[in-house]
Amino acid sequence: MIVVGLISGTSIDGIDAVLTEITGDDLDIEVKLLAGETYPYPEQLRSHILGVCGGDCISMENLAELDDAIAQQFAIAANDIQKNQTPATLIGSHGQTVFHRPPKENAIGYTLQLGRGDLIAQMTKTQTVSNFRVADIAAGGHGAPLVSRLDLALLSHPKEYRCIQNLGGIGNVTYLPPRLLQRENEIVGWDTGPANVLIDLAVTRFTDGRDTYDRNGEWAAKGIPHHKLVERWLQQDFFHLLPPKSTGRELFGEEYLTCCFADAEEELSQEDWLATLTELTAASVARSYRDFLPHFPAEVLLGGGGSRNAYLKKRLSQHLAPATVLTVDEVGVNSDFKEAIAFALLAYWRIGNHPGNLPQVTGARQSLPLGDIHPVF
Ligand SMILES: Nc1ncnc2c1ncn2[C@@H]1O[C@H](COP(=O)(O)OP(=O)(O)O)[C@@H](O)[C@H]1O
Ligand SMILES: [Mg+2]
Repeated sequence: MIVVGLISGTSIDGIDAVLTEITGDDLDIEVKLLAGETYPYPEQLRSHILGVCGGDCISMENLAELDDAIAQQFAIAANDIQKNQTPATLIGSHGQTVFHRPPKENAIGYTLQLGRGDLIAQMTKTQTVSNFRVADIAAGGHGAPLVSRLDLALLSHPKEYRCIQNLGGIGNVTYLPPRLLQRENEIVGWDTGPANVLIDLAVTRFTDGRDTYDRNGEWAAKGIPHHKLVERWLQQDFFHLLPPKSTGRELFGEEYLTCCFADAEEELSQEDWLATLTELTAASVARSYRDFLPHFPAEVLLGGGGSRNAYLKKRLSQHLAPATVLTVDEVGVNSDFKEAIAFALLAYWRIGNHPGNLPQVTGARQSLPLGDIHPVF
């Protein structure tokens, strides 16, 4: 089946769109990437979304308009990625998260993705699955991370323990025991905390918005990480919460960065700040593996935009030694588009009535097919 996958993550850097050919059943599947492209949001729409994610108040009317504007951009991306290709018969669209509240002891979670699937279905004339997170949340889960079942299907190693570490705005990990041990019930995963989001926000502040990220980590590489600050930040509650856990810009956003800046007792240069924020990402990932995993992995495979940050990769390799740190590209999965591929696959599983979540990762009471199906009228 030819399936389109669409997502814009917490970085809000643009819509990742893939065209895939998926064959097989449930976990026994093959996924071929036919095309992949990132479509940046129009600048005005991006700043509107960033504002809303940062807590700006909007009317219901404006919310409806924003929902439609995002859906339109997703539909344009879905149509464009199919140009000169075999047309898709299914679209899986994650949409744009604008609010995420993890479940607490007495309250289930709440999550809101904009870019409504029914509009995408009508604009593309293609059946569309969207709203993947809500069923998992209704079953008591975090609705995140949702890529772990793809990681299980495509990335487990026959004999070695592996971690698949995504480095988007927020980071998340899937821990995979060796396939030959058949210990699927031992798979765990969680959001590790900030991956690029604080680095991106700091670069945006330092350059007055001219740059939005630290290309290849070149800026941070000129600085020196202040380990005392990192150690202090690692004392914060989120890093000590036991998995399952999820987070977003609600916690790791502008306000958080302002508090980080206020923590410094001496003046730090901009490159030292970027090195220190990058160190927080590397140290928090490694610390969480040491705190929460039953077995330290032999290999860590990086994906997402942060896997292009050479300085972050170097710091992660040091913190994660003796594990070998690679990118998922090196084992045949495209690191830029793994998340978009995941939503194509989740849609494929949805219409095949197969589960999309791993309850031990999200914390849901059961495994479930995920997503709402929007037919074409
Ligand atoms: N060449 C690069 N060097 C450093 N960081 C990069 C590079 N390319 C992408 N990134 C980072 O990756 C982020 C986007 O990653 P992505 O996986 O799309 O995250 P999300 O899923 O949150 O949208 C960018 O905001 C940027 O911080
Ligand atoms: Mg992105």
